[in-house]
Amino acid sequence: MKDSYSKFSARFLGRTGTKLLMDDLGEVSANPGYINLGGGNPALIPEMTRRFRESIRELVDSGEFDKLVSTYESPQGNDLFIRAVQEFLKDTLGWDVNESNIVVTNGSQSSFFTLFNLFAGPCMDGVNRSILLPMTPEYISYGDLLVNEGSLVSHLPKINEIDDTFFKYSIKFDDLRVSKEIGAVCVSRPSNPSGNVITDSEMGKLIELTEKHELPLIIDSAYGQPFPEILFKDVSLPFSKGAIYCFSLSKLGLAGLRTGVVVAEKPIIDAIKSINAVTSLSVNAVGSLLVLKLIKSRAITALSRDVVKPFYKARLLTTLDLCGLYFRDLGVRIHRPDGAFFLWLWIPDLPITSSELYHRIKARGVLVIPGNYFFPGISDSWEHKNQCLRLSYAQDVESIERGLQVISQEIRAALKH
Ligand SMILES: Cc1ncc(COP(=O)(O)O)c(C=O)c1O
Repeated sequence: MKDSYSKFSARFLGRTGTKLLMDDLGEVSANPGYINLGGGNPALIPEMTRRFRESIRELVDSGEFDKLVSTYESPQGNDLFIRAVQEFLKDTLGWDVNESNIVVTNGSQSSFFTLFNLFAGPCMDGVNRSILLPMTPEYISYGDLLVNEGSLVSHLPKINEIDDTFFKYSIKFDDLRVSKEIGAVCVSRPSNPSGNVITDSEMGKLIELTEKHELPLIIDSAYGQPFPEILFKDVSLPFSKGAIYCFSLSKLGLAGLRTGVVVAEKPIIDAIKSINAVTSLSVNAVGSLLVLKLIKSRAITALSRDVVKPFYKARLLTTLDLCGLYFRDLGVRIHRPDGAFFLWLWIPDLPITSSELYHRIKARGVLVIPGNYFFPGISDSWEHKNQCLRLSYAQDVESIERGLQVISQEIRAALKH
């Protein structure tokens, strides 16, 4: 990094978890020999792929495709898509929102960049605000996206032991302090990396807290409701007027089309629209039009529930069986996987850091993500932070099994020394 580069750029050019993850994904594309249990790529689910191909074909045959790829859409997104999403939310979730409450972005990552930097950092009223993460581990990029590095307040979770294998994190509400220095609260549900799904009671308490302090609650539903519903327990997604709901088409299988949707109060939507206009002129409408019919017909709900969710559930069960086989005597704990498509391993007796373990596993051609990157703002002295690994089970079963075999061998070798 050159000294003459701006401080703004320095935030993104240094070592970040997001960059490590994306560099690893790049290495995998260049070297197909790797087993990739690292990134957040969704699986290629044949029924979904077929539907998306069909939609593209219809767009091409009807001539709409030509207009679609040659036109700058509004920075709010394609109006047909926005209307369809509004009707969908009203019809399926009973939400009282109109079109001015919805904006499309170039992926949720872009939604979070905009939202975090809207609410955190030095503000116009002279207050220096932060984003509050009520519980870590949290999505790897939350810590990286803030232009102002210190603008994050994050909390340790309560670790609840379920049995000899499983544990579950929960929010320590007594630790949460909300002051005027907090700009917004953010939570992913289901959570990437842990597969945790905060309970309805926890969600209710977060809504109560943020409503009381008139703070935005950013709910990252990239894996959750209303699509793709990679959720293995029944929870509801309540509507709160002050909440900001972030949806994405990525985990349906459209990660390459970079389409995010934000639902919030109109002033927030207007702010995102302005930032979209300046930073991108307009937003990508290919994803929007590809799923337009699926949203209008509500087929997106059936596909989420009957195709996407069962696909990942089956992969999860197979992966858990394999974990039972390979990790049996290693003292590996697993966060109860209630959603998303990751297993979060906790190895309390690990004598090396998870980062060192990651390098050893990578040297054997298997990619995972070391847990420390998912605890932004949490001190290294908290041992748990360096005892966890995230692995994706979106890959084919053969790769998962080979990956688990290598991971277990490296854990065993580390434990022996
Ligand atoms: C929890 C979470 N939020 C947001 C994102 C970003 O998703 P998108 O592809 O919509 O930018 C991801 C991607 O993996 C994620 O896991």
